[in-house]
Amino acid sequence: MSIRSDGGYADRTGRVSDFRLTVLRDARRDRRERSTMQDPGSSIPTREFGIIFATAFRKEKTMRKAGTLHDAFVDELRDTYDAEKQLTKALAKMAKTASSPDLKEAFEAHLEETRGQIERLDEVFASLDEKVRGKHCDGIAGIIDEGKSIMEEDFDATTMDACLIAAGQRAEHYEMAAYGTLIAWADAMGHTEAANLLQQTLDEEKAADKKLSALAEGGVNQEAAHAAHAGDEDDDAELVGAGRRTNKTNNRTTKFGTR
Ligand SMILES: [Fe+2]
Repeated sequence: MSIRSDGGYADRTGRVSDFRLTVLRDARRDRRERSTMQDPGSSIPTREFGIIFATAFRKEKTMRKAGTLHDAFVDELRDTYDAEKQLTKALAKMAKTASSPDLKEAFEAHLEETRGQIERLDEVFASLDEKVRGKHCDGIAGIIDEGKSIMEEDFDATTMDACLIAAGQRAEHYEMAAYGTLIAWADAMGHTEAANLLQQTLDEEKAADKKLSALAEGGVNQEAAHAAHAGDEDDDAELVGAGRRTNKTNNRTTKFGTR
């Protein structure tokens, strides 16, 4: 018996076994069909069709999930809402730690303002028909952590006050940046009521920042500088001058991403 190139075989007499030929042809056809099964009505093999479909589905899913500026706006509002809540605890601690009665009063006053700002954010969410919800704000958490570390330091009273002002201003500037952006986005999307409410808060943040600058430049920094160089009378005038220059960098209110 010999096998022929067409899959059939011939016996010693040279007769082709039709049965064997049919079986081999059927097997080949099955294999071909399994590897290139066609989607009904399509000329694309099923496997390729599957890949194309999966890719298109993924793209569609991505497009469905892509957020808009409105989503980013609500997300930022939630972040800011949480930031204000974190700050209420921090400000209470800062007020307790401060030695200067004026600084204590400034922190307490801003704590009250901050509680009002949280209520104002409730109104902003309501004006947008959005659920009031906070989302952990890592940025302010980091700033607060730095403030906590400072409060654990063994600084003299005036130096601690100067450091508390610096920590407070870091937080204020973070908030000013957030509210400046929120207002610009609200304006751009025509959320007038939200923009007006947020502007009120931004004005309060700016005023709180200015107040801290006034306290720093109005005596706290100089007092701390004197304490740092007590007994070094010759260099005192020069050092106070240097302190003033430092103030301008550290405490002066800057124009900062706001309108
Ligand atoms: Fe605030």
